[in-house]
Amino acid sequence: MSRRPGNGTRRFVGGGSNPLGGIFHSKTQTSPLLSVVLVLLGTVLVIGYVYKGSGGSGDYKSFSKVQGDFSCTYDVHMAIPILKKTYGDSMHKVLHVGPDTCSIVSELSKEKDTEAWGVEPYDIEETDKSCRSLVRKGLVRVADIKFPLPYRAKSFSLIIVSDAIDYLSPKYLNKTLPDLARVSAQNIVIFTGKPSNSKANIPQASRFGRPAKMRSASWWARFFVQTSLEENETAAKKFDQAAAKSSYKPKCQVFHLNSYR
Ligand SMILES: *[C@@H]1O[C@H](CO)[C@@H](O)[C@H](O)[C@H]1NC(C)=O
Ligand SMILES: *[C@@H]1O[C@H](CO)[C@@H](O)[C@H](O)[C@H]1NC(C)=O
Repeated sequence: MSRRPGNGTRRFVGGGSNPLGGIFHSKTQTSPLLSVVLVLLGTVLVIGYVYKGSGGSGDYKSFSKVQGDFSCTYDVHMAIPILKKTYGDSMHKVLHVGPDTCSIVSELSKEKDTEAWGVEPYDIEETDKSCRSLVRKGLVRVADIKFPLPYRAKSFSLIIVSDAIDYLSPKYLNKTLPDLARVSAQNIVIFTGKPSNSKANIPQASRFGRPAKMRSASWWARFFVQTSLEENETAAKKFDQAAAKSSYKPKCQVFHLNSYR
C-alpha cells in the first residue's frame, strides 16, 4: 500500500510537460541548503540542551521540569554505559521500572545483546507513536507497582528502578521491593532521590498522586536489611569507578542489590 503513492509521484514528476515541473525543480535546488541550515540549527540546539543538562544544579532543575516531575530517569539515561561496565554479562534481559520507561527501553534496546522491557507505573497520557508500539508489543506495560508485577520469578537478569519507589509508603514498599527481587534473577539497581534535592524536585501537585518522600541512604540501608535484600558492594564499587572515569555524577542515590537466592 505504501508503494502506490511513490509510484504516482515518480510518474507525475517524470511528465516533463507538466507546468508544475518548474516548481519541483526549484524546490530540489533550495532544499539541500535548507536542510543544512536546519541540521546546523538542530545541532546547536542539541548541544545547548546537553550542555544545560550536564551543567549546574539550577539548569538540571529546569531540565527535570521539562520532563515532568522526575529526577532519576534522566540519571538512568546517562548511566547506561556505566551500567554496562558494571553488569556487562547481566545486561541480557533488562527490566526498567519507572516513569518515561519507553525512552529507557528504546535506548537499552539499541545495546548489543540486550533485550529490554519496561513497567510504567503511571498512566501514559500523551505518548508518541514509538511508545505506543512498545506497549502494543507487550515490551512496555502500564502496571501499578503496589501489586505483584506481571512477570514470573527470575525473569530478568537486571532490574533498573527509577523515580518509582520514592512514592510508596513503607507499607507498600514492604511488598513492592521483595516483588522486584522476585522477578530478578541476579541484580537490581535502584535510583532514588536524595533528601537534599527533595524541595527542588517536588512540585506542589505531583502527577504521581502523592509527593515523593526522599529518604536518606541510611534509611534505605536499614530498609534493605529489613526486607532481607543484600547490597552488592562489588557492583557498587565497579559502578563508582566507571562513573568517576567518565566524570559522571549521578544526581540521585544509586543502590545495587542482589536478588534473593
Ligand atoms: C515492613 O516489614 C518489616 C519486616 O518484615 C516490619 O518490621 C515493618 O513493620 C513493616 N512495615 C510496615 C509499615 O508494614
Ligand atoms: C554483584 O554484582 C556483580 C556485577 O558487578 C555480579 O557479577 C555479581 O554476581 C553480584 N554478586 C552477587 C552476590 O550476586
